[in-house]
Amino acid sequence: MNTSSKRKGILLAGGHGTRFYPATRSISKQLLPIYDKPMLYYPLTTLMLAGIKDILIITWEHERELFEKLLGNGEQWGLKLQYAAQEKPRGIAEAFRIAEQFIGDDAVCLMLGDNILYGEGIADLLQKAGQQIEGATIFGYWVQDPERYGVVSFDDQGQPLDIVEKPENPSSNYAVIGLYFYDNQVVDIAKQMQPSARGELEITDVTRVYLEQKNLQVTKLGRGIAWLDTGTPSAWLEASNFIQILEHRQGLKIGCPEEIAWRMGYIDSHQLMTLANPLLKSGYGKYLRNLVS
Ligand code: TTP
Repeated sequence: MNTSSKRKGILLAGGHGTRFYPATRSISKQLLPIYDKPMLYYPLTTLMLAGIKDILIITWEHERELFEKLLGNGEQWGLKLQYAAQEKPRGIAEAFRIAEQFIGDDAVCLMLGDNILYGEGIADLLQKAGQQIEGATIFGYWVQDPERYGVVSFDDQGQPLDIVEKPENPSSNYAVIGLYFYDNQVVDIAKQMQPSARGELEITDVTRVYLEQKNLQVTKLGRGIAWLDTGTPSAWLEASNFIQILEHRQGLKIGCPEEIAWRMGYIDSHQLMTLANPLLKSGYGKYLRNLVS
């Protein structure tokens, strides 16, 4: 399997979580379970499928310990996980300022901690995006309520024309999903940005710079792919139901870092068995054991 060795990963797992109040007053939504595993496992495994092993997890300072307890330094899954704090949610694009040192001279892939991406062929799609070291790649997904998202429109040739954050009158149904591949310029772009009217460093403004440079690739995701954002109680429950239905039907887990690490050859069967042991009571460990046998 190809890996994008010169690309780092960022998981953005801070945020206000106000659409989930009161549940998220005392805990990050990204630590809540989506069916049988913590929410953050899903975007984490998406980065793993993209071949990214070196990942920075950005959280509120006071929540870092909880995330570290859950994920550790990633060694158990053949990853290198590091942590950084966002003082307060000043916008998604602030991630690149926080991660400047971590990114160094590399390209980067940012994924939002409350996004789930699932579907046949997704690993190939992501690895292809990861191999493109220059420019930016984002993904457009047809939704019925585009006004809730960043919206990308296209010209007659299918090239991206414009990208607007939460437009009142969307010019297309393509929402930009919370997964962004950028080259190393992104750090400078983020450093030069000013906050928007709502006081945030907007990821849409970052992407627009690449659009203006004609350096932006937008990959449309078809209906065979599920993109779920889990930021409200209803969306969260729908995502949990979706995962439960598929897992129950197939007997295969979605977003399981142990399995992906093992399948990608980051850990061997013996290591997988060791990871399974403390998880036996929940059935999760039995699943891991069965993979080997
Ligand atoms: P949003 O959905 O924009 O917002 P939120 O999670 O803060 O929640 P709410 O709107 O309910 O108040 O965030 C998308 C993702 O990005 C989510 O995983 C949190 C993360 N995020 C940060 O970590 N820092 C930020 O500054 C922002 C804006 C978001």
